Amino acid sequence: MAARPSLRRSDLLDDPIRQFAAWFERAEVHPLIAHPEAACLSTLGPGGTPEGRMVLLKRIDARGFVFYTNLGSAKARALAAHPRAGLTLHWQPLGRQVRLRGPVAPTSEADADAYFATRSRASRIGAWASEQSREVDGRVALERRASDFERQFEGVSVPRPPHWSGFRLEPEAVEFWQEGPARLHDRFLYLRVRGGGWALRRLYP
Ligand SMILES: Cc1cc2nc3c(=O)[nH]c(=O)nc-3n(C[C@H](O)[C@H](O)[C@H](O)COP(=O)(O)O)c2cc1C
Repeated sequence: MAARPSLRRSDLLDDPIRQFAAWFERAEVHPLIAHPEAACLSTLGPGGTPEGRMVLLKRIDARGFVFYTNLGSAKARALAAHPRAGLTLHWQPLGRQVRLRGPVAPTSEADADAYFATRSRASRIGAWASEQSREVDGRVALERRASDFERQFEGVSVPRPPHWSGFRLEPEAVEFWQEGPARLHDRFLYLRVRGGGWALRRLYP
């Protein structure tokens, strides 16, 4: 394994969102990272059992980290009951992991409309066709629903389904992990401070 520079406190910006943006920019241009915006979303499911699944982060800014999904899905129901979550990203070729956690709130209707309008027609039809996380009789049933919606919206633009929208995680903790030699990795945790700003500490790996 090629030696990588370790992560020093002096390498880190005061604001973890800006630090995230700096790492994200590196991941985006890396030829071996196909989906730098892919993250594991962890929620608390029924009975308090944690559940994880991948989502794509579609907007990242000072207000938080936005993803879109079906509002009837297991994840959306979990978030309605317990509106807090974790996001974990792994950029293997860079030896980097970022973990975030915090409260989650729905995005605005206008925000969801604007993002939905950027999706391809096929994936807009797909959003109508999928009753995400519910049992489906078979592949044929799914394809029939997709064809039905294609017919329904023939010749017109596909509107955002009422059961499809976005959520924003507002981080209150952000951890940056940089792989090091002999398992001596570098970990830095930012914690949001009441009243503004962030506290930064180094953790044992
Ligand atoms: C790389 C990747 C990205 C994904 N992005 C999303 C996404 O942005 N939104 C979404 O609803 N599902 C996405 N999925 C599918 C979810 O992982 C999951 O299977 C689905 O949302 C149902 O999850 P749930 O039953 O826990 O709600 C993605 C899957 C992969 C592998």
